[in-house]
Amino acid sequence: MKIGIVGCGAIAKNRQAPEFFANPDCEIGGFYDVDPARSAALAAQYGGEAFASLGAMLADAGIDSVSICSANRFHCEQTLAALAAGKNVLCEKPMAMTEEEGEKMAAAAKASGKKMMVAQSQRYDPAHMRAKEILESGALGRVVSFRTEFGHSGPEAWAGYKEGKLFWYFDPAGAGYGALGDIGVHKADLVRWLTGEEVAEVSAFTATTDKKACGRPIPVEDNAAVCLRMANGIVGTMQLSWTQYGRDANSTVICCEKGQIRLYCRSDEAMEVIHADGRCEVFPIKEIWDSYGRHNSGIIDAFVACVVHDTPVPVTAEDGLAAVRVIEACKRSSQENRAVRLKGVK
Ligand SMILES: NC(=O)c1ccc[n+]([C@@H]2O[C@H](COP(=O)([O-])OP(=O)(O)OC[C@H]3O[C@@H](n4cnc5c(N)ncnc54)[C@H](O)[C@@H]3O)[C@@H](O)[C@H]2O)c1
Repeated sequence: MKIGIVGCGAIAKNRQAPEFFANPDCEIGGFYDVDPARSAALAAQYGGEAFASLGAMLADAGIDSVSICSANRFHCEQTLAALAAGKNVLCEKPMAMTEEEGEKMAAAAKASGKKMMVAQSQRYDPAHMRAKEILESGALGRVVSFRTEFGHSGPEAWAGYKEGKLFWYFDPAGAGYGALGDIGVHKADLVRWLTGEEVAEVSAFTATTDKKACGRPIPVEDNAAVCLRMANGIVGTMQLSWTQYGRDANSTVICCEKGQIRLYCRSDEAMEVIHADGRCEVFPIKEIWDSYGRHNSGIIDAFVACVVHDTPVPVTAEDGLAAVRVIEACKRSSQENRAVRLKGVK
């Protein structure tokens, strides 16, 4: 497999380029960024060509797969162009800025016969994978409720934001959402995946409480609190924050008939399984990460594997679209101050 990476910012530099480079089944075909210095820097480090345009990359017949790592507003048009050029696509989350865009992308992926995967990387976190195995084993019985949170200090340090210019993460036209799209989409996917149920209805409050750019409050939400009802009737909550300073939060609690799974609830543990009789099994972070041999995100290797071995795509365009539908419903719920039901889900 030969990969072309589109967008050479933080996720390309910190995760995608090194992990594609390290994968023995993948060759780096090249990079494209609107800022040519960025594509040149990654090509110098990892090999491949620094393309002058997306069209030039897509015209390279040697490149069979493309990873879209640009700002959210370009995901749809660049994915459609790559599929039309006959490339497999890995698209960063959130897959799209709107449900309409996501529907176009999913339809194009289906019609193309190519692989399209969405980088909902929380599924590859070893503690989340272990939780999924336990839930599927039936050992704890049926899921009866959940709560999940994702909080950090915002995307500025990660993406090297310099005060004074318009930061796409804070621009409704560049990102579509604030914390909802950036981190809420991860948790929307995680709860769908762990519970095995679609989100049927949401009730969300969003607020811009603290974050400023150019001396003014940012024009997207920096916090969101969401109640979710799943298709089978169970309910749960999702708390998202870009203003959680000092230490990140990434915890999830899944309550089942016969006990609970607690993920990243304490800083020294990946997970605890507490049985209904009070018995507690503790899984330290190092142990659980090592038991999966995990030294990278897992998402890149999963994409390479499904292309190289022609196996089913593990996180499909439909999965990406379902997560976008959840955050779009949250946005509408907050704007219209009412609960919003998701289309096509009971
Ligand atoms: N899966 C995850 O956990 C995860 C983590 C962080 C970011 N992301 C996602 O990755 C994507 C990129 O985020 P980032 O943090 O790297 O942002 P970033 O701002 O650091 O990088 C974006 C890059 O895209 C380039 N770009 C902008 N317009 C372009 C265009 N039309 N064509 C090509 N390149 C273009 C920019 O010059 C920049 O280099 C976002 O969708 C984000 O949500 C995913």
